[in-house]
Amino acid sequence: MRSFIGWIGGKSQLKKYIIPLLPSECTRYIEVCGGAGWILFGKEQIKGQMEVFNDIDGDLINLYQQIKYHCSELQNEMDWLQSRELFTDFRNNFNANTPMTDIQRAARYLYLIRCSFGCNRHSFATTPSKPYNLIDLLPLYQERLRDVIIENRDCEDLINTYDRPDAIFYVDPPYVGSEQYYNRKYSSFGEADHIRLNECLKRIKGKFILSYNDCELVRELYYDFNMIGVDRNNSLPSKPLPKYKELIITNY
Ligand SMILES: C[S@@+](CC[C@H](N)C(=O)[O-])C[C@H]1O[C@@H](n2cnc3c(N)ncnc32)[C@H](O)[C@@H]1O
Repeated sequence: MRSFIGWIGGKSQLKKYIIPLLPSECTRYIEVCGGAGWILFGKEQIKGQMEVFNDIDGDLINLYQQIKYHCSELQNEMDWLQSRELFTDFRNNFNANTPMTDIQRAARYLYLIRCSFGCNRHSFATTPSKPYNLIDLLPLYQERLRDVIIENRDCEDLINTYDRPDAIFYVDPPYVGSEQYYNRKYSSFGEADHIRLNECLKRIKGKFILSYNDCELVRELYYDFNMIGVDRNNSLPSKPLPKYKELIITNY
């Protein structure tokens, strides 16, 4: 299935390269920087395989949790009006930390993602993906998330917790130079974090698949791992190049 949201750096285009690399014999699948979950939703569900989905963004993870645990309440909460006024009101209240229940917060967050330009939650899109197209589909996502463990932790902490010889980690960190596109309230991933992630992945007992932009730092950090270069159409709003070069790196 497809993800229910767009996300900056989302792997809708690269999933065709990444999913076939997932080893089916691994008894635990851990998606470390989940975002819109294009790999989790695109991959096959394997009987007996534990699945973990994580992101450091607390608003995003709250949305997944409300879909998983309170799907019908979330459906009821969603206000399907489409207007710029509503968008601005939601955005301002959301950022001002107005008191809301977790369900109200998830509904507004989903509305902002679906109605914003490039899913950036800040500027109203002229052709928004209408939220009401999604409401009836939410139970399908609830069902898919039924046995998935949802976490809201830093990548290194999560990897250390779930590392076993039979684990496969899919890691999709903020790309070098594109860290500012993610919610700064939760993440300010920088060079030190790229290095600490590299040191952590070098130590693990399990397998990993890592996706990154093709740049000098990444090539230096992962020079002794397997690398596949791929091209995809650019989805970042401020990058003028039509094609974007990426690397898929594995330790097996
Ligand atoms: C490239 S996006 C992931 C896109 C995702 N694979 C998809 O298909 O939609 C990077 C994600 O890393 C998350 N992130 C940033 N810093 C993190 C950290 N320290 N630990 C875990 N996740 C983090 C961001 O919130 C963002 O959702």
